[in-house]
Amino acid sequence: MAEQKNPDPQKQRMREHIATLQTMRDNLRQRDRDHQAAFDRLTDSLAAERPLSAKGKPSFDGISLVIAYYNIPQQIERTLESCSPAYQGCAADEIEVILVDNGSTQPLPDDLMERFPHVRQILRIEDKPSPVFALNAGIQAARHEMVAVMIDGAHMLSPGVVKHVRDLQPMFPNPVINVPQYILGMVSQNLHTSPDVFAEETANLTRMDWPEDGYALFDYAVYPGENFARSYVGAIESNCLITTRKVLDEFGGFDERYDEPGGGFANLELFSRLIHAPQNTYITLAGEGSFHQNHDGTTTQRSPEERDQLVAGYKVRHRAVTGSDRVFNSRSPVLYGKARHLSQQVPTISQEFKDASSRILRQLANIYVARARAGMTDNYKPVLSVGGSPDERLARTPLPPLGLLPEAAARNKVEKQELSYLRCLKQVHKAVRPKLYFEIGVDTGASLALAECPAVGVDPAFVITNQQTTPCRLFREKSDDFFANTDRCKNVLGQGIDLAFLDGMHLAEFILRDFIKTERWMAKGGVILIDDVLPDQMEMLERDRRFNAWCGDVYKIVPILRRYRPDLEVSVFETFIGAYRKGLLVVSGIDPSNNTLETQYDQIAAEIADGTFDVGSITELETVINPRPIKDLTAAAGRRG
Ligand SMILES: C[S@@+](CC[C@H](N)C(=O)[O-])C[C@H]1O[C@@H](n2cnc3c(N)ncnc32)[C@H](O)[C@@H]1O
Repeated sequence: MAEQKNPDPQKQRMREHIATLQTMRDNLRQRDRDHQAAFDRLTDSLAAERPLSAKGKPSFDGISLVIAYYNIPQQIERTLESCSPAYQGCAADEIEVILVDNGSTQPLPDDLMERFPHVRQILRIEDKPSPVFALNAGIQAARHEMVAVMIDGAHMLSPGVVKHVRDLQPMFPNPVINVPQYILGMVSQNLHTSPDVFAEETANLTRMDWPEDGYALFDYAVYPGENFARSYVGAIESNCLITTRKVLDEFGGFDERYDEPGGGFANLELFSRLIHAPQNTYITLAGEGSFHQNHDGTTTQRSPEERDQLVAGYKVRHRAVTGSDRVFNSRSPVLYGKARHLSQQVPTISQEFKDASSRILRQLANIYVARARAGMTDNYKPVLSVGGSPDERLARTPLPPLGLLPEAAARNKVEKQELSYLRCLKQVHKAVRPKLYFEIGVDTGASLALAECPAVGVDPAFVITNQQTTPCRLFREKSDDFFANTDRCKNVLGQGIDLAFLDGMHLAEFILRDFIKTERWMAKGGVILIDDVLPDQMEMLERDRRFNAWCGDVYKIVPILRRYRPDLEVSVFETFIGAYRKGLLVVSGIDPSNNTLETQYDQIAAEIADGTFDVGSITELETVINPRPIKDLTAAAGRRG
């Protein structure tokens, strides 16, 4: 009550400011709509002069829409609504829908044909993972001269599609019409975070007065890709491809060799085959669209890696069918209809990425100029590139650090910085004084740069940003592949490695193989270091990486070496990277002629897999690992046989 009588003036000002901004935003939106309306009036008046019909062409008798259904019981209702004669503004007998159900596990509702009388047939095909068989059957069943194929039934249409087809059919002998595709929503669909995207879409569509205002879809859609340069002019597929029965009879329907789940590149191939045939006229309906509704739960969405793998598989099949794994569109379309500038929205991530990258470039340029002006003439050069770093760790969820460093420093009776892993590595370099240094897992070259002798590094994805001061040979390979080339190993490692640092793939069987193969090339009395054997949290030792800080189950190498190679001196030290403990293993007493681990590899790998070396807690891990005080590091590393 007191607050109402004496409102906080600052809050009040803030509210007023927000209200002003909202009004400005609404005015801008209205201005946008007014512009579109003016543009529409203009194009309407231009379009009123109808072009001549192609000679002898039959007039429009209707359209058959062949729509694939697969586990989209909610989305199909909106799709059917958008294909209805009322929505498309035509007579009831001018539209028939043939739904093809490709062995869906969520069947179509029984009453669908009563509720949507334009659905004339439902065909169900079993035991075929690819929709192409069902779609071809649907095309065969179509009774109108104009046929639309929609391989993904989750696409809703804008309301002028059929009207435009009616206009176009008499104009061209062989029209192939693309309805450009968009993504419903304001962000790229695989970035949706809402637990119920369908409900969110429904709420937004209702608010926008859909289906009464069918073109409102353009206010709630983005381009399907992240590519700024891509527009519907260069489309490589369509989710509503319309042509005549005559064209389909002549050029065929979907190629049934695309029999993989989802149909692979079948839709792209059909699009390419039809638009590139010189006798066909490729037309794009600039002012219409098919709008893809989200139908994947957030948990079932694919990661970029999975998507790449899937597409790679599609390309193999595509190459087998067409002789090329490329998909392209080298034909310019005849654009028909209104251009809708409101449709020119690309997913927000692109915009944010572009903004962020320009900001970083600007900042780097400013730093560079400021340093030059201040006469700072050392070799420092900011890297004016934001695209080069593959450091996907930036995208990992940060794991809150436990803050063990002060405790560990006190336990080891040293200053905190003395537990930094790079500092400890440097200490080992000083103790061993190697003539040849070898590293697996180079990354940015931070640890490699510690070498004061010739060095050899192996990493399939290094990006060197740390200056290297000694001659080094880098191999962009996985360590298994590197070692497979024995002749080359002999050439680069033949003199014998004095110091090796193994920091590649953080999984126990990988580090075991790296150890076995590195030991073979070690010099007498050499030392092998292994990173990541003493993480401070259970999340860090999971095999599947989830967080920025990750050691995997590399720690298992410690009990493995102690059990199978009691001849080796195996010591672990508490080292840190930033606030996280990760631990460093020092192995001396190396014996390149000992092949125990190699001969027992299968048994040890089976033990890794069956959980023999698993730990249930960090306390248990510490007992297994039994770290030594850091003051012993030089002595542990300095033992040269
Ligand atoms: C933690 S980083 C290495 C950091 C580096 N040693 C340092 O301290 O500055 C791990 C590196 O291992 C590399 N890697 C992953 N799998 C590998 C493999 N099978 N063989 C070699 N390197 C691998 C990754 O590309 C990554 O750059």
